[in-house]
Amino acid sequence: MDSYSFDFTTFFDRRGQDADSVDHVSGVLEGYDIIPMWIADMSFETAPSVIEAVRSRLDKPHFGYFSPRAEWYDAIIGWHKARNGIEYDKSSICYVNSVLGGMVTCYDAFTRPGEPVLTHNPRYTGYATIDGSGRHTVYTDLIRDENGVWRMDFEDIESQIKKQHIRVFALCSAHNPTGRVWEKGELEQLVDICRRNGVIIVCDEIWSDIIIGNNKHTPILSVKGAEDITVAFYSTTKTFSLAGVKGAYAVIPDPDLRSRFLSTAGRTMLNQMSIFYMYSTIGAYSQSGQAWTDQLLKVLTENIGIAYDRLTAHEGIVCSKPQGTYLLYPQTSEWEKRHGVSHEELVRRGIERGVIWIDGDGFGTKGTLRLNVAVPTHKLIEAMDRLDEFAFIE
Ligand SMILES: Cc1ncc(COP(=O)(O)O)c(C=O)c1O
Repeated sequence: MDSYSFDFTTFFDRRGQDADSVDHVSGVLEGYDIIPMWIADMSFETAPSVIEAVRSRLDKPHFGYFSPRAEWYDAIIGWHKARNGIEYDKSSICYVNSVLGGMVTCYDAFTRPGEPVLTHNPRYTGYATIDGSGRHTVYTDLIRDENGVWRMDFEDIESQIKKQHIRVFALCSAHNPTGRVWEKGELEQLVDICRRNGVIIVCDEIWSDIIIGNNKHTPILSVKGAEDITVAFYSTTKTFSLAGVKGAYAVIPDPDLRSRFLSTAGRTMLNQMSIFYMYSTIGAYSQSGQAWTDQLLKVLTENIGIAYDRLTAHEGIVCSKPQGTYLLYPQTSEWEKRHGVSHEELVRRGIERGVIWIDGDGFGTKGTLRLNVAVPTHKLIEAMDRLDEFAFIE
């Protein structure tokens, strides 16, 4: 695999190429290019194996109705076996248009209108979009331990489940925004609570390929007792810069849960796979795609280290290194207080110089900024230089 070589150093100008990360940015001063570090997609081109797979299909220009190929299932099964040592059965794999759409389908299938769904806080902002489906989100706070590691509050989870008659727990693993990669013991405890209380786990594993350093992802479905109470969602979109291609899939080993999920999903007729998504997944989940991901993870691990060191060099800024994801949430409130700078002013200072970061408030991480470090390393260093010079003015 070492014979592969991929480009994670070129910084592409994506303006006018259908990229929200650069096309919908305002407030940058003349003379500064945009370093997009806000929206959760990467500034790297997708893996060459994705392009090859899609291009090979374009050479056969017939795009009529189709059914997923055996290679699509094999690619998914092979990926999870190689990356996480778990073997999914073909029959358990169900296509969905998006992870969020799949989660909302679960809420429709497994809860009644007006009922709450429990999830952690801090949380990914997208989870609040379920409120439009007639359900609403309620939260159990993650709590930092003495080492600054975000931990689940199992007592609170169980008490909320009982008090609020929770039927579905939405788990994000690896967790956005805290960057936690859950330990097996933590997942076992959660599964045990959900089992005892008749709660279905809807597990969003969209970030499960972006695992930093020596951390290890534990698929929820590898946890004893999870198989018949869990729907797990995956996607190539985060890992391979494919958010604009769309497409995701659920793994639902339990036949009863699966049939309830599929009958709800089928009602709208909206979950229809695109042929380009299918080929992009086959290309992504190949040997070459694996090597690309390994190299990506090395770059992201280095970038996280650089960003962490540079940010925390400013007294008053606190940050934890994510164990997964490429998102950092530096807590800047103490620095702002010491320097008499408002949060909005700090955000503005970065944006003016082309460092496009955002307020972390919406993610339940008050007083933080969100910084996506999935940019070429030299560009990340440039961003840090600009922040030192123009934003964190001592
Ligand atoms: C935790 C999490 N889940 C889901 C999504 C979105 O997935 P999709 O576009 O497939 O709905 C994101 C995007 O940032 C995310 O961070």
